[in-house]
Amino acid sequence: MAKIDTLKVFSGIRSTSLAKGICKHIGVELGLAETLLFPDSEVLVKVNEDVRGRDCFVVLSTCPPVNDNLMELLIYIDCLKRASAGQVIAVIPYFGYARQDRKNEGRTPITAKMIANLITAAGCDRVLAIDLHAAQLQGFFDIPVDHLSASTIFLEHFESRREELGDLCVVSPDVGNVKVAEKIADLLNADLAIINKRRISGSEVKQRNLIGDVSGKTVLFFDDMISTASTVVTAAEFVMERGAKRVLTAATHPVLCGSACEKLAKSPIEQIICANTIDRGSDLDVQAKLGDKYLELNVDNLLGDAILRIHNKRSVSELLRRTAGTKR
Ligand code: R5P
Repeated sequence: MAKIDTLKVFSGIRSTSLAKGICKHIGVELGLAETLLFPDSEVLVKVNEDVRGRDCFVVLSTCPPVNDNLMELLIYIDCLKRASAGQVIAVIPYFGYARQDRKNEGRTPITAKMIANLITAAGCDRVLAIDLHAAQLQGFFDIPVDHLSASTIFLEHFESRREELGDLCVVSPDVGNVKVAEKIADLLNADLAIINKRRISGSEVKQRNLIGDVSGKTVLFFDDMISTASTVVTAAEFVMERGAKRVLTAATHPVLCGSACEKLAKSPIEQIICANTIDRGSDLDVQAKLGDKYLELNVDNLLGDAILRIHNKRSVSELLRRTAGTKR
């Protein structure tokens, strides 16, 4: 394996398989470190090799358990900084708390901003992320953010099976995602439809109107994440009632919390395609409940290329040439 001694890649305990894939692509060994839990659940991160002056990339999705992962990330950054790392770059494939990005009502926090402050205060020099819930989250960090989109990978996937998808309609499951869905529809030479969704609670949504025609078509939903799966499952039922022939859904982040897998398994959705920003492909529960219905696309190479570019002080924009943008 070629040795790039000035670059180190470390991994959070729940992001190891993605970090290993990135290392394989770059041609480096995963950095030597360990995360230990004290009996009272405090976290200790210990780096077991010299990092002085190196660019240290910490791959860690702040997925569920969100607070544990977040603490591990903050402690990792502090540990590397105190070990005299050159730059510490947080590679956050999935950024938890991203949906708490504004005050929807009085006396509520903007937690996404507070988390960005914490990451910066811990000593992070730069962030590398994929499909943040909204593009403007980049501005929450007072340090540079390289923001990638997995839509390149999704597009390649759907282009390779374009013929099989037949008369295709890309449907945005809510108005926030229209721009992304529109771009994907254009690139796949498909129609576009939009659902007007209303969120009733964290786990309950209601579809109100459909703008566009899905009758007799293959519907492809595209969203940034599937969390409780309420959005996509109710949207799938909604389009089936309006004459859709089949439904597939694509989303970057497979948060899949609570009873999401059961809901998806029972739903009319034929296939769920996500990226491995959160490791669900090897999750036995997901495998047992969704089996072949679940397909995970790989962002290892995309992140690996971005890491190499950051390390070599080259532009990351080239990796964004053919993307559908981000939810607004
Ligand atoms: C909403 O703005 C998001 O982009 C997703 O549509 C939503 O968060 C998915 O959540 P759930 O799967 O819980 O409906």
